[in-house]
Amino acid sequence: MTDGQFYKIFGILTVGIIIIAIIIAILANVFASYSFHPSNQYKTEIENSEQIRTEPEGKINLASNPTIKQEAPIVVASSGPISGKDIYNNVCMSCHTSGAAGAPMIGNSSQWTDRLSKGKDTLYANAINGIGVMPAKGGLSSLTDEEVRAAVDYLLDESN
Ligand code: HEC
Repeated sequence: MTDGQFYKIFGILTVGIIIIAIIIAILANVFASYSFHPSNQYKTEIENSEQIRTEPEGKINLASNPTIKQEAPIVVASSGPISGKDIYNNVCMSCHTSGAAGAPMIGNSSQWTDRLSKGKDTLYANAINGIGVMPAKGGLSSLTDEEVRAAVDYLLDESN
């Protein structure tokens, strides 16, 4: 073999090896993008759902997540009528125990004498329909009139 022939064959082999290397590199890239991208997406999906599951309840936007139903407030969940005391404690207490927004306070009889002189039926009606700052049924419209009356009775009994 002459020097000339050797360099020719050597050159061809070198170019061939480089071309093969380039092809391998291209294939590796193609496969990498096929196999890594979907699994990366999958990973973020898992992380996202994990985050949703572990996030404190108040931070989740429930409206945008149809799989999570907002827990019904305790008062609504039960079927039969609930005691006036339970309703008071769940719905009315926030205002009528602290006197917030000028609400007549439970246990403070002097704040109730004037109101009682209007007659109990007026008090019931005002608690059901709302009066001044107080929203109808204390803001929980799913209460029945009966339940609101029971809560008023409890409120008045405790305020004698
Ligand atoms: C958001 C605060 C708030 C909540 C919750 C609330 N109240 Fe009141 N309530 C008030 C305020 C303020 C008044 C005084 C309104 C006025 O006289 O202008 C009032 C007045 C009343 C009165 C007297 C009405 C009258 O005619 O003088 C009754 C009875 C009453 N509330 C019952 C209830 C009951 C029962 C609940 C729960 C189901 C409740 N309230 C929940 C704020 C509240």
